[in-house]
Amino acid sequence: MTKHYQVVGNPIAQSKSPFIHAEFAKQTQQVISYQRACPEVDGFAIEAQRFFGSGGLGMNVTAPFKLDAYNFADSLTPRATLAGAVNTLALQDDGSILGDNTDGYGLVTDITQQLGWTLKGKNILVLGAGGAVRGVLQLLLEQRPAQLVLANRTLAKAEALASVFTHLGPLEVVEFAALPAFPAGHFDLIINATSASLAGDLPPLPEALIAPETHCYDMTYGAQPTVFLRWAESLGAGVRADGLGMLVGQAAESFRLWHGVMPEVKPVMAALRQHLKA
Ligand code: ATR
Repeated sequence: MTKHYQVVGNPIAQSKSPFIHAEFAKQTQQVISYQRACPEVDGFAIEAQRFFGSGGLGMNVTAPFKLDAYNFADSLTPRATLAGAVNTLALQDDGSILGDNTDGYGLVTDITQQLGWTLKGKNILVLGAGGAVRGVLQLLLEQRPAQLVLANRTLAKAEALASVFTHLGPLEVVEFAALPAFPAGHFDLIINATSASLAGDLPPLPEALIAPETHCYDMTYGAQPTVFLRWAESLGAGVRADGLGMLVGQAAESFRLWHGVMPEVKPVMAALRQHLKA
């Protein structure tokens, strides 16, 4: 019997989740339907009620509804509680709805397993302090970096965010203007999580951040390299990756939660890369 899933966002036409979950289902011989839904921005709860009321088993949630999904869930995993946001809802045997957040898992497994980069003991710089960062900070700090610095345009926002996570590891916040105070090449890894890149913009970053061995990761992705990755490349950063692997990784963890089987990520990343070029 076909099992029903969907991804909810506004807008949603751009979502690659239906493609990814169809690939996972093929790979693991699940018979699923996975649709897109685009409620009005104030219409999440009604859509979620309709979906689960009509036999839906699981839902992915993207912007701007991750907080609505957090509020909709009957119970939350610890990582969703700390993230303050839910990207995965799952119907439980007792009829209740569990909220989870698999974004941090997607990022960290992409970096450590797919890319093979080390986080433990490293100096990490994260650009941005919005919802995307909140979703991944716990998992990043659990990898025991030597230092994790959040740089944000609005310092107060970064400070408020960091206060939720400081008990988990060595977390500091700075404004972009303070970045030149770090020695050249100080950071082993720079992760861009500002929404500036979606608009093709870059925060004001000193060129001395980049050394040949600086690993650069952009949480967004596209058919072409992002502005941040092109900037890093122009300064000689030799090791770079976009967020396609994070996207597929968070989807894989949602899939595991729903179906009890972890799909293979690598072939689906390759298929999605081809799909983006087409
Ligand atoms: P998301 O869920 O994608 O993180 P968000 O919560 O709106 O979206 O956060 C966007 C992040 O990108 C914030 O850190 C924002 O900085 P502010 O906190 O100062 O608003 C950052 N951002 C957006 N546009 C930016 C720009 N042009 N330059 C630098 N930072 C930018």
